[in-house]
Amino acid sequence: MLPPVVTTIAEVRAAVGAARAARQPISFVPTMGALHEGHAALVRAAKARTAVVVVSVFVNPTQFGPKEDFAKYPRTLDADRALCGDAGASLIFAPSVAEMYPENSFTSVEVGTLGDHLCGAARPGHFRGVCTVVLKLFNIVGPAVAHFGAKDFQQARIIGQMVRDLNVPVDVRVEPTVREPDGLALSSRNRSLSSTERAAAPAIYRALRAVRARALAGEVDAARLEGALHAELSAIPGARIDYARVVDAETLQPRARLDRPAVVAVAVFVGTTRLIDNIRLAD
Ligand code: PAJ
Repeated sequence: MLPPVVTTIAEVRAAVGAARAARQPISFVPTMGALHEGHAALVRAAKARTAVVVVSVFVNPTQFGPKEDFAKYPRTLDADRALCGDAGASLIFAPSVAEMYPENSFTSVEVGTLGDHLCGAARPGHFRGVCTVVLKLFNIVGPAVAHFGAKDFQQARIIGQMVRDLNVPVDVRVEPTVREPDGLALSSRNRSLSSTERAAAPAIYRALRAVRARALAGEVDAARLEGALHAELSAIPGARIDYARVVDAETLQPRARLDRPAVVAVAVFVGTTRLIDNIRLAD
């Protein structure tokens, strides 16, 4: 069934207000649209928890840098609606930029040090924009649970920290990364890859798996693991490394030795398309 699409905050509040009056908890999946199976998995995970599932589709301008692809970001609402319907969503909230950011909006979320590393280093202000829009959406939708993907590992970690630090009454869940059969993490950006770039891109995940194999074989020196990772990523035709780091899963800080749960996180330009991926080394 095609879920209804509402575009105003008043409409979404009325819809979720009816659910809340009936004591039905709400699950929420925030997205920027151009939805794929990775998003569908989040919607299905949400549907498994609560009967009422709200999906937001909003390309959030405040998380894009001045030279980034905000204008070019794909907008495919009809297809998104069909995918949401198949996955069990009850309602889509697809506001305009003016609805979310009326003139004279000033306040934003200060992310702190978790936003300084990895993607935050290359994209100043990105996580401020992400946290601000996610907190606004939480306040608009009022969910009990919200679902995020492990593919955006730093984002999920920062949002988990935000709800803890600001006492936001939302249970943040992180779902596994959905991949193509050849290992490439699904991403709305994959559609920008040329066929040669698409053929090269699965080597990113192969490199991550190779590092994990080294770690499982007993390598605990992060610099040596990063060295091997850089060598593998540099060998991908047409690829340019933005970052490739072994970081602490909690603090996102670089670690010299793998003596605590760590994550290998990479951002790689394949042609002009920036792809991110990560793998957990140990729990
Ligand atoms: P977007 O890139 O549309 O992603 C929406 C959600 O889908 C995020 O939680 C992301 O981690 C998840 N996702 C994307 N690809 C995935 C995959 N291959 N497997 C599993 N989950 C995947 O992330 C954003 O939008 C925005 O920053 C947002 C949180 C909506 C704020 O604007």
